[in-house]
Amino acid sequence: MEATATMREAEKAVSRMEDAEAVLREYNYDKTKLVPILQAVQARYNWLSKELLSYIACALGLPPARVYGVATFYAHFSLKPKGKNIIRLCDGTACHVKGSTSILDALYEKLNIKPDRDSTDDMMFTVETVSCLGACGLAPVMLVNDEVHGQVKPSDIPKIIDELLARQAKNSSEVA
Ligand code: FES
Repeated sequence: MEATATMREAEKAVSRMEDAEAVLREYNYDKTKLVPILQAVQARYNWLSKELLSYIACALGLPPARVYGVATFYAHFSLKPKGKNIIRLCDGTACHVKGSTSILDALYEKLNIKPDRDSTDDMMFTVETVSCLGACGLAPVMLVNDEVHGQVKPSDIPKIIDELLARQAKNSSEVA
């Protein structure tokens, strides 16, 4: 059983490297395009593993420390696994005053995220708090992937999550 899980992990790592290779090819292995390359690779998985950063460094002929340095410099890059769906809840002043904390509680409860974690066990969701999203008039605001939800109430959370999951299930059954 454990060996099967290890095999699956190894297969996933290989497929991530194949995807990174496709991005590198697309950018013609141009080391001056390091940031867009990292962005394109991250767009596929929502995060960048150390193995992927080393692979990219090697393919571009750059020192791994340089690639790692760029990935840690920009807040946009994540070196920690993130879920398939990313929920960004604003905790800027306007949203905080309008109750973002109780929305966060509702998200954790609905998604069953354990204390001290920010992702669900199945990595379907990651919840992050962010500072002002620039839509204070709609406070409290949260972004579900790229979708903006304004004037959110804790009681809205189950519906928002269920609808998102239903949409994704429908899309994947249409693709299959
Ligand atoms: S404080 Fe939340 S959008 Fe500005």
